[in-house]
Amino acid sequence: MRILQGKIALVTGGSRGLGKVISATLAEAGATVIVNYAHNTAAAEESVQTITRAGGKALVIQSDITNEEAVQKLVQEVEEKLGGTIDILVNNATGPQPELAIEESSWEDYLDQLNFFVKAPLFLVKAVLPGMKEKGEGRIINIGSEVISLGNPHFSSYVTAKSAQLGMTRSWANELGPSGITVNLLNPGFVPVERHEGIDASGYAKNVPLRRAGLPSDIASTVLFLASDQSKFITGQAIAVNGGNTFGI
Ligand SMILES: NC(=O)c1ccc[n+]([C@@H]2O[C@H](COP(=O)([O-])OP(=O)(O)OC[C@H]3O[C@@H](n4cnc5c(N)ncnc54)[C@H](OP(=O)(O)O)[C@@H]3O)[C@@H](O)[C@H]2O)c1
Repeated sequence: MRILQGKIALVTGGSRGLGKVISATLAEAGATVIVNYAHNTAAAEESVQTITRAGGKALVIQSDITNEEAVQKLVQEVEEKLGGTIDILVNNATGPQPELAIEESSWEDYLDQLNFFVKAPLFLVKAVLPGMKEKGEGRIINIGSEVISLGNPHFSSYVTAKSAQLGMTRSWANELGPSGITVNLLNPGFVPVERHEGIDASGYAKNVPLRRAGLPSDIASTVLFLASDQSKFITGQAIAVNGGNTFGI
């Protein structure tokens, strides 16, 4: 029996980058995966085909997760099409992440990041909670970043929004624990994906204790652990998956 057999998982931004590999990994473990995306239909369909070719189950749904009405429709569509509610929510999607000096940054630049990493997860969690509470169990996995420990300069809008996810994760864990729902924050280090094509990771890797950048599979295997019963007594935690590049928070 595969460890996520019978579960329904929603991966936001499941069409490319880390989300694509997370989706494939959860599907390989038996979950039916909803591959969410916003713009690039071809990439989303390719992500689903990768899963179905390997014998997994997946559904593609386009939805702008920064829009509350769209999120409600997304969750409703999942429930109607699959006849069940979402067991695992992976808050992974991201928009552009501009690197800006403080003087170049506007409040809108900060809001852009908060929209993805705080607003969208709030809409999503509110939409999936009724189903999780009824079942008395659920898994919420927020994808953060090691930048909350490093405080990278010229990146403050992103660092600020990713840092907000830490308090959000802890508060949600406290509030939802009695309902059997765990909430954790996974903080990747640098993991080159399609959008980093041509970027040399060696400068980053030379300071990492394990001497390499991350692989999408490093992140996906930790998501799988957090989504599974193996992690049932872990909640409210921030877990850095970055070869030891940071210690603690
Ligand atoms: N890769 C890294 O080095 C790294 C390091 C630390 C943390 N992270 C975090 O890991 C997560 C994934 O990053 P990534 O590098 O894999 O990103 P990515 O390759 O840029 O993929 C972003 C995904 O989000 C989707 N998306 C964009 N806008 C959306 C919207 N409004 N609604 C729904 N989906 C939307 C994209 O779909 P469309 O193409 O259709 O827009 C795409 O599937 C992010 O939270 C990021 O901050 C990544």
